Amino acid sequence: MSEHPVYDVLIIGSGAAGLSLALRLADRMKVAVLSKVKLSEGNTLYAQGGICAVLDAKDSLESHIQDTLTAGAGLCDPEVVRLVVCEAKECISWLLERGVPFTEERDNQGHRQLHLTREGGHSHRRVVHAADATGRAVEISLEKHARQHPGIELFEYHNVVDLITAKKLGYPAQRVLGAYVLDIRQQKVKTFRARIVAVATGGASKVYLYTSNPDVATGDGIAFAWRAGARVANMEFIQFHPTCLYHPDARSFLISEAVRGEGGKLLLPDGSAFMHKFDSRAELAPRDIVARAIDHEIKRLGIDYVYLDITHRPAEFIRSHFPTIYQRCLKLNIDMTRQPIPVVPAAHYTCGGVLTDSNARTDIAGLYAVGEVACTGLHGANRMASNSLLECLVFAKQAAEDILKSLPMVPMPPALPAWDESKVSDSDEEVVVSHNWDELRRFMWDYVGIVRSNKRLQRAMRRIDLLKAEITEYYGHFRVTSDLLELRNLAIVAELIIRSATQRKESRGLHYTLDYPQTDDSRPPTNTILEP
Ligand code: FAD
Ligand code: SIN
Repeated sequence: MSEHPVYDVLIIGSGAAGLSLALRLADRMKVAVLSKVKLSEGNTLYAQGGICAVLDAKDSLESHIQDTLTAGAGLCDPEVVRLVVCEAKECISWLLERGVPFTEERDNQGHRQLHLTREGGHSHRRVVHAADATGRAVEISLEKHARQHPGIELFEYHNVVDLITAKKLGYPAQRVLGAYVLDIRQQKVKTFRARIVAVATGGASKVYLYTSNPDVATGDGIAFAWRAGARVANMEFIQFHPTCLYHPDARSFLISEAVRGEGGKLLLPDGSAFMHKFDSRAELAPRDIVARAIDHEIKRLGIDYVYLDITHRPAEFIRSHFPTIYQRCLKLNIDMTRQPIPVVPAAHYTCGGVLTDSNARTDIAGLYAVGEVACTGLHGANRMASNSLLECLVFAKQAAEDILKSLPMVPMPPALPAWDESKVSDSDEEVVVSHNWDELRRFMWDYVGIVRSNKRLQRAMRRIDLLKAEITEYYGHFRVTSDLLELRNLAIVAELIIRSATQRKESRGLHYTLDYPQTDDSRPPTNTILEP
């Protein structure tokens, strides 16, 4: 046992969720923030479209609530939806106070106001944005404040191996006590002690071969909270974004839904539109419908991609509303003011995750989950566009208020054992890890993707069983590396997705299976909750 410094709150993750939680706490307590790579890297940095908030006089809270419930296909928690929608305005003000440069326009009287864009599933313009790089604007502003705050200690390139809980150490009552963390640059596992731990590690879309997400999105927090004993819910609901750029030199680049919101049309190679055949809302139908329609057309015609065309809008409008997308496409010799953009669906967002209450508390005392890692009840079976950054901000606020109230009652953690490396050596076969990474992501794409079936899920589960056995053996013998830790977590996340998808005997929201193509309306819909 050794005495390590004790933090009041250890926050794992430095995206919109982790940094806003840290900033809401740090005036009153000692906070540590960990990030797996550099501080700004994560899904937040790449968010394009924006953040939902009811700010237009013609819009209403009830309308935002209803749109969210409709997208969620019967599985949203209505109280959580109301809470999030009602807190949106305060959260946008909080970001403005921290200098986030949202796009503005002049109203009829010449007054400046926030420009609102529109995305799929929304019946009004209600998406606050910073051109087409909203996440970057949010992340950079929060990072600046976090770096200047004396109450926040930042640890970049620190990868959490596992949470330390009281039960693991033999105490009778369960509670989180800290975490073992691989310092990537020093290649050394450190022990962090904390009275409270908040997991804000983002999503898990790297479990699929094609994804809009950056490399860090390996679902680590879902996996280590699960290993620690927290329940996980609704993992079958993986959102595939309909329009990622199709180009050999542009891995993961998203073409924002706001392009469709501003009039972009989806076209087949012969120039014909097709979305109206699938849904009366055409290009502005929720994402599950648009992604499945594209997938259907790609498979039906044996083509690699479809086109997204916004050339009918003035070139200046396109350049000023979508500067990032315009520049990126232009570098690849696609001028979106004159040519349609080749697009395909890709894994984008993890609707399920660590089950929490409306204060972001998980099943384990002292452990919170905030942001994409969590399943709060907001998204149900399908997340509506631009509700995710909002969820990060609102639940960071909820968690902060709960932590501020409860911290005085939280005991100091005991001394913790140091990480034991006495029985492991350096790996002599790294190829096992890279091979298993590739294999896992490919069979998840092929068998557990946009369209599923019982047979495909069974095939995927057989492969997961084999992979898990190999990974466990490898983990038991060799010193941990970031790649190995991520692979171990991806295998758990993949298993949770397959198990949840297998349990759902219907198609609903983002989960579509050939064996049960209809939504089961004969009984009240249920969440898929997995117990460790
Ligand atoms: P992230 O921002 O992903 O941050 C995760 C953090 O956890 C990182 O700091 C990472 O280093 C850290 N971490 C992970 N694992 C570990 C570990 N083992 N140890 C230590 N640290 C760890 N949503 C919207 O609402 N509007 C949009 O316009 C929008 N556009 C999007 C566009 C793209 C291309 C993508 C990918 C997503 C988009 N989303 C959008 C979704 C939204 O960006 C994310 O859901 C949200 O940013 C998640 O924030 P987060 O703080 O939960 O996680
Ligand atoms: C986008 O800009 O299309 C992404 C919006 C989101 O994921 O909420």
